[in-house]
Amino acid sequence: MFKTATKALFCAASLTVASLALATDPIVIKFSHVVAEHTPKGQGALLFKKLAEERLPGQVRVEVYPNSSLFGDGKEMEALLLGDVQLIAPSLAKFEHYSKPIQIFDLPFLFDDIHAVDRFQKGPVGQELLTTMESKGITGLSYWHNGLKQLSANKALREPKDARGLKFRVQASAVLDEQFKAIRANPRKMSFSEVYQGLQTGVVNGAENPYSNIYSQKMHEVQSHITESNHGLLDYMVITNTEFWKGLPANIRTELTAIMAEVSMEVNKQAENINQRDKQAILDGGNTEILYLTKAEREKWRKAMKPVWKKFESDIGADRIKAAEAANKQ
Ligand code: LMR
Repeated sequence: MFKTATKALFCAASLTVASLALATDPIVIKFSHVVAEHTPKGQGALLFKKLAEERLPGQVRVEVYPNSSLFGDGKEMEALLLGDVQLIAPSLAKFEHYSKPIQIFDLPFLFDDIHAVDRFQKGPVGQELLTTMESKGITGLSYWHNGLKQLSANKALREPKDARGLKFRVQASAVLDEQFKAIRANPRKMSFSEVYQGLQTGVVNGAENPYSNIYSQKMHEVQSHITESNHGLLDYMVITNTEFWKGLPANIRTELTAIMAEVSMEVNKQAENINQRDKQAILDGGNTEILYLTKAEREKWRKAMKPVWKKFESDIGADRIKAAEAANKQ
């Protein structure tokens, strides 16, 4: 009798301890991405971890998985929807199966510079695009810059005709596929973690990336030339699983939202510096020549690639494209 009562008491006490432990266990946020840590996105993920754990001590733990170490870019979206990760920041080129309007960011020669991108993202259309995947269970939290893309290849590319017949690695994006077809090159979709090897073995001859991705993946070691074309954008949308986000205690969600805003400002301030630092490192490496286009040469690339816009206009919305163009003139 005594034994049974003690056992019951002991069990009840263990249960209480267990539920107390559960109640105080931190919420784990897994943040998975595909780039190196010293890139704009890599730095942003680490800063988010630092601030979240400093300001919500014991309540939130952020685990950052860089370099496709948890999920590569073919799998990270699925993992988010399944709840295997809680935060990812794919490039804006990787949303076409979830939101057609987000394809706007891939249109070649849409933005004159990163300041125009910034204005558009902060404006009403940019903010509306963050919400276009809610019905699919995805909430857009913020935009992070990487920067404008440069063309690289194993030969000098001055004019579109120089790219004819070359195989270019593209992200999984119909717009980027069409962009290379427009200059009569051959696009090949390939996940980010495979690009270096693809270039090294000649499966592809060229690619398009901001300097930070070229340098951190050592692509410049296997590309003899980079053309500073600034022809398109590689930015990110930080996204979360809607159910997870809405299920957070309100005070924690409010704090994490504020932290995300602060981190985004910092990433967007530093991204251009990181790209310039990495451009200099590529030049210092001495293996790759960087070509600068004259106004007339750049105009040839624009003329060759711009017809792509028409093909995607109905999916994206003509008004959204107008709003993006207007951001250049402000
Ligand atoms: C790419 O696949 O080239 C990029 O999306 C990688 C990245 O996340 O910057």
